[in-house]
Amino acid sequence: MKLIKLISNLGYGSRKQVTAWFRQGLVTDAEGEVLYADDQLGIHAEHAAIRFDGEPLDPPAGMVLMMYKPLGVTCSRKDPGRVIYDLLPPRFSLRNPALSTVGRLDRDTSGLLLLTDDGGLLHRIISPKAEIAKVYEAELANDLSGDEATLFAAGTLMLESETTPLAPAQLQVLGPRKARLVLTEGRYHQVRRMFAAVGNHVESLQRVAVGGLDLGELQPGQWRLLEAQDVQRLFMQAASVD
Ligand code: URA
Repeated sequence: MKLIKLISNLGYGSRKQVTAWFRQGLVTDAEGEVLYADDQLGIHAEHAAIRFDGEPLDPPAGMVLMMYKPLGVTCSRKDPGRVIYDLLPPRFSLRNPALSTVGRLDRDTSGLLLLTDDGGLLHRIISPKAEIAKVYEAELANDLSGDEATLFAAGTLMLESETTPLAPAQLQVLGPRKARLVLTEGRYHQVRRMFAAVGNHVESLQRVAVGGLDLGELQPGQWRLLEAQDVQRLFMQAASVD
């Protein structure tokens, strides 16, 4: 691949803008030697050695990142309000292949959100067959009755306007009005609808882990790139709640 294509695919600018930057000598190798628009990736320079204005390039296609999604931002590109893409470098929204969220969190849900440009990986994570645990903590409006864990674990709960029952889910009581819920699927507003089905109401909701990956040191609004070992942790089972 020519370097001009690589760098415009990474969202740094249009081919015209990137051509101008090559002419200005902004694209170099790690030793500061100027690289050219027609130079070939892997022949004239490796991705890791390329610098744009002295800075290492963003990761190539196959990028995966996690964000601590704050409350009040949506997982959409089009929403007129604040969107999660506003929390990332603007060029990430211009990448080809495009960066997408791995499933969604509601505007009023905070917590661990994954994004990737790798469509195969995205489908492996969201596929119910993969049974990757999505771990939520919910604060509820009313006291838990004590029956919820058995009902949610039964694999028979049918949500309104759905045609198939929910897969078994694990519930751990954390307090009179607080619970941790582990799901292996991701239906629309699933946690809120599950508690609504038992006559309760979710007042606040956070996703604390996906598979074996948790929020770690991230603070709301922060994000970090995932390394290969982080991606492996996604496919490891989260700690069981019982
Ligand atoms: N369940 C919900 O109700 N909302 C979310 O954002 C995620 C799971």
